[in-house]
Amino acid sequence: MTNTLIKLDNIKKIFFTDEVETHALSNISLTINKGEYVSISGPSGCGKSTLLSLLGLLDTSTSGQYILSTHDVSSISKKQRAHIRNKEIGFIFQSFNLISDLDVEENVELPLTYRHDLTKVQRKEMVKNALEKVNMAHRAKHFPSQLSGGQQQRVAVARAIAGDPSIILADEPTGNLDSENAQAVMALLASLHAEGATICMVTHDPRSAERADRNIDILDGQIVSDKSTSKNSVEAA
Ligand SMILES: Nc1ncnc2c1ncn2[C@@H]1O[C@H](COP(=O)(O)OP(=O)(O)OP(=O)(O)O)[C@@H](O)[C@H]1O
Ligand SMILES: [Mg+2]
Repeated sequence: MTNTLIKLDNIKKIFFTDEVETHALSNISLTINKGEYVSISGPSGCGKSTLLSLLGLLDTSTSGQYILSTHDVSSISKKQRAHIRNKEIGFIFQSFNLISDLDVEENVELPLTYRHDLTKVQRKEMVKNALEKVNMAHRAKHFPSQLSGGQQQRVAVARAIAGDPSIILADEPTGNLDSENAQAVMALLASLHAEGATICMVTHDPRSAERADRNIDILDGQIVSDKSTSKNSVEAA
């Protein structure tokens, strides 16, 4: 069965800064299947964002193997990483990370402009579809500063999904939102999941973690618990 999207084997990440060596991740082995909704929780500094950066090819591990949809991406070049990241990964950050000089439409289109397999017409269509999905099409010409936090995050979700990535990675996506907007963003992620999206979300909010069908807990750079919450999801390797 080739239902596996991500396979991490014995991943280690050490940060070397001045005289300090930080063992951010130790011996992480993890399999994520297509269509899963995984939450990652754990105390501040335990390695959650580091793990997400590795999964999203923003950074590389110190040792260990990473297979992303049958490709070994452990030791590919920076250029190849950027290329795969752009096509396969959708990121959602706590602080939205929209570009203030670009309007909503341009923000969503930006990652697509680095893709040489898309025409301008295709890009415009993808942007339109993504904005409709997050219910922000009516704000296409607005700038980030003219939007509420919840609206900005919905635009960031549109940016993440516009290119139809293999996986959506979200790092505390509701961390900067009030509870009403947080619930709206969580509902949006749930509906994307229901349509088949694979999601891996870092959260410290137990109510958000409950939305996922698998909960992983990290402590001191190691997975200490990995539990399925629904009978439909597949156990970790
Ligand atoms: N670029 C870096 N250089 C040096 N050390 C780093 C770097 N990034 C992270 N670390 C260290 O690695 C450890 C894990 O950090 P990480 O950001 O993954 O934690 P986290 O679980 O996301 O925490 P939080 O919940 O506060 O966001 C921490 O000790 C942190 O100081
Ligand atoms: Mg973090």
